[in-house]
Amino acid sequence: MTPVEQIKAKLDIVEYIGESVKLRRSGKSFSGFCPFHANTKTPSFYVFPETQTWHCFGACGTGGDIFNFVMKRENVEFAEALRTLAGRAGVELKARVPADAEEDARIRRLRDVLESAVRYYHNLLINSPAAQSVREYLSRRDISGESIVAFQLGFAPESWDALGKYLAGKGFLPKDVLDAGLASEREGGGQYDRFRNRLMFPIRDIKGQTIGFGARALSDEQQPKYLNSPQTPLFEKSAVLYGIDMAKDAIRAGHTAVIVEGYVDALMAHQMGHKNVVAAMGTALTESQLKTLQRLAKKFILALDADTAGFEAMRRGLSVAHDALDKEAVPVPVGRNLVDFESHLQAEIRVAVLPSGYDPDDLLREDPAAWQTMLDTSLPVVDYLIQIVTAPLDLSSAKGKSEAAGTLLPLIRSMADSVQRAHYVQELSRRLRVDERALLEMAARTTEPAPRPARARPAAGPSAPEPRTLQRLGLEDFCLSMLLRHPDELTGVERLGLMADDFVQSENRQIYESLRTLEPGEGDGQPAGLRQRLNEALHARYDALVDLGRRFEPLMVEELEKSVLRLREQGLRQLINRLRFLEIEAQGAGDAGELREYRQRISLTTEQLDWTQSALRARTMLGRAESAANEKTV
Ligand code: UTP
Ligand code: MN
Repeated sequence: MTPVEQIKAKLDIVEYIGESVKLRRSGKSFSGFCPFHANTKTPSFYVFPETQTWHCFGACGTGGDIFNFVMKRENVEFAEALRTLAGRAGVELKARVPADAEEDARIRRLRDVLESAVRYYHNLLINSPAAQSVREYLSRRDISGESIVAFQLGFAPESWDALGKYLAGKGFLPKDVLDAGLASEREGGGQYDRFRNRLMFPIRDIKGQTIGFGARALSDEQQPKYLNSPQTPLFEKSAVLYGIDMAKDAIRAGHTAVIVEGYVDALMAHQMGHKNVVAAMGTALTESQLKTLQRLAKKFILALDADTAGFEAMRRGLSVAHDALDKEAVPVPVGRNLVDFESHLQAEIRVAVLPSGYDPDDLLREDPAAWQTMLDTSLPVVDYLIQIVTAPLDLSSAKGKSEAAGTLLPLIRSMADSVQRAHYVQELSRRLRVDERALLEMAARTTEPAPRPARARPAAGPSAPEPRTLQRLGLEDFCLSMLLRHPDELTGVERLGLMADDFVQSENRQIYESLRTLEPGEGDGQPAGLRQRLNEALHARYDALVDLGRRFEPLMVEELEKSVLRLREQGLRQLINRLRFLEIEAQGAGDAGELREYRQRISLTTEQLDWTQSALRARTMLGRAESAANEKTV
């Protein structure tokens, strides 16, 4: 990749321009007042996230990419803009010096040292009596002879100088052995073998050339469990993907790369015939690892441990990404950056969660079919993030909602695809039981050059519902409080179409759902059993509703039906609005399939709305006729 490409991959034009120009989302793009000419009435300046370009439709009549923007704004030449943006993106602009012959020769020597070491360790593993227990260990772990050869596994003997002596005998200098990462320096001079009494995993680059080793301990007392090569001119840990040389063809052919955490996991996957698997060396996946993969495929599946490192790293990473916002410093399988990355590369990143207590190696050996099932049930990264962010939160509380929205909206906003964005806003709205419009407003707000997203507490939204929402809550409360007093009306209102989803407030929804599961008669009049059954956090809400019901009691129960219908009407209206929004987005994206689906759903929902409205009219007219009749008789 050229520096220009690197910069473009790292910087988002909307974010960048948004720092100096106030931008608002408008459909698939963002608009604002043009910074280059007097423009105060209608915004004429547009930024397009999908193409990462901008355009002024007003007096300027010009546009371009992020570089043109900087050139025009700072009034500088391209080279200067490149320096500015490179600094910002953390891309190094090295004038590539004509190949340094001496350096090249040194690199070649390091490669030769490593290849010799691979052969040495491998030979010992296969033939040395000292490696008998290691061969037994491998066989206990079901690692086949073919795998041992294919991955050139080896054995480093329990010795301070065996490898050093062997390599010296081959004519290598101690310095080369040291620089290749195979020896450590002794205090007071000299050096000793770095890897002793370990199972050796040669680590190769995509071309199959060895660049370093991972070395597994052979007993629990030995620490660390894996000792890896140190940083060397060849071995850059953050860029390494174990197994990439063996996996690249399968990844290309299947357009998918599966990423696991451990050496043994990758090896076992290959042994079981899943050749599109690489290991990220137990650390958070980095941008440079993903870039390597991105040249081979557009779809990545991260196979993460259910309860250990992967999950935690992801969660931890998410908050790091939030606080630091320093793209360089943040490793990738982490919320925002992963989503950014997915957008920039137009890659699809999915997360497959392993059954609790299993790593891929265990799973593959115990139940080979489960591997495919796990991949098939992988989630798009944003769905996964929504899941892990919301899991520990109490989404029925205003605090929980606002925390979830505050964390997830910036993630959703950074997605390049507008249809997907719309989809996730909808999904979040459903989960948080927060009006979608309120979320969209929050999302729009976060696109403005705001304080860093980490600090940007969602000011409005869940904790301060807009008047319309409040009004609606009143209707919900009324219906629910009546139902709590008259559970026998439940069947009737369900026939009118009332659904749990019609309750926007999640406490209400919970209570309604529990009420529906009561056995007939169980909650007769005073559904005492219900309170018991509810989560304690819902008790206050429940008591308030019961109290409300008592106050409403004088009202005719018929009023309940009308209120239920009104509630339905509002819910359906909102759904139609939302679908229209998605329809427009899908239209813009030119997605015929989705467009058709949205239109079908709109017409279906409109039918339901019509039905609800006529049912409501009928009851209102009936009510009027009745009261008119009553008036006459009185
Ligand atoms: P694990 O501890 O899950 O090991 O670390 P593993 O790969 O499953 O190995 P077995 O099955 O216990 O033999 C996962 C990966 O994290 C890195 C290694 O790449 C390892 O494969 N790691 C782990 C280290 O680099 N150093 C360590 O001390 C531990
Ligand atoms: Mn393991």
